[in-house]
Amino acid sequence: KLADLKGLKSGTLRLAVVTTAKYFIPHLLGDFLKHYPDIDVDFKVGNRQQIIDWMENGEDDFYVFSHPPKNRELDLQDFMPNPLVAIAPQDHPLAGLDQVPLQQFAEQPFLMREEGSGTRDAIEKQFEDLAIQPNVRMVIESNEAIKHAVMSGLGVSILSSHTLAFGGSSGLVQLDVEQLPIVTRWYLASLKGKKLSVVARTFMDYVAKNSSIDSLDELNT
Ligand code: PGA
Repeated sequence: KLADLKGLKSGTLRLAVVTTAKYFIPHLLGDFLKHYPDIDVDFKVGNRQQIIDWMENGEDDFYVFSHPPKNRELDLQDFMPNPLVAIAPQDHPLAGLDQVPLQQFAEQPFLMREEGSGTRDAIEKQFEDLAIQPNVRMVIESNEAIKHAVMSGLGVSILSSHTLAFGGSSGLVQLDVEQLPIVTRWYLASLKGKKLSVVARTFMDYVAKNSSIDSLDELNT
C-alpha cells in the first residue's frame, strides 16, 4: 500500500500467453518494466489448450489468446489485430500472383499446427466454412519450425503475421490468397470475479494505452 502511495508499484505480474503472443508480449513487457522496474514477471507460454488447462488453477493475472474459450467466464480486453496470413517459399509458383483462389492454395502441401492450437482451429474453421479441404502434409508443433520448414520448401502454411515480424523471415513470401488473411484479434483475458492486484490493473491500463499502435508499427516495418 505504502509503495502504491509513493507511486512505486511492486509485486508480481503473472501472465500465461499462447505461443504466437510470445513474439510481441516480451516487447510490451520490456517497455512496461522500464516504467515499473520493481515489478517481477512470471511468464508462461503454451498453446491454446495448455493455457486453458492452466486457467483451472486460477493463479495467473492474465491470459493472452486470440481465441479465448467460450465456455469460461472471462473479462476480455481486445487490444490488437492478429492476421493469419498465407506463406510460401519465395520461389513458389503462387508467389507474386494476385488473388490466388483458396482452392488452389489448399492443393499445395500444407504444414499445420498441432491439435490444441488456436491458430489451427481458426484455419480449420475457415476451410470448413468454405467447404475446402487443405492438403495437410505435416503437423508441426511450433510456429518457428513451420516457418523454417516453409523456407526449406516443404510446403505452405498459414501463420500469425506476428511470427513473421520478429526473428528473421528471409526466403519467405506472403501470398495473396482469396478469403485470407483470417482476421482475428488479441485479447487480454482475466477470470471474472478475480480481484486484480494493483500490479495487474497497472499492466491492463498500460496494454490498453500502448499496445496497438506501437506493435503494429513494428509489424509493418
Ligand atoms: P496457438 O495460439 O495457435 O499457439 O494456440 C493462438 C490462439 O490461441 O489463438
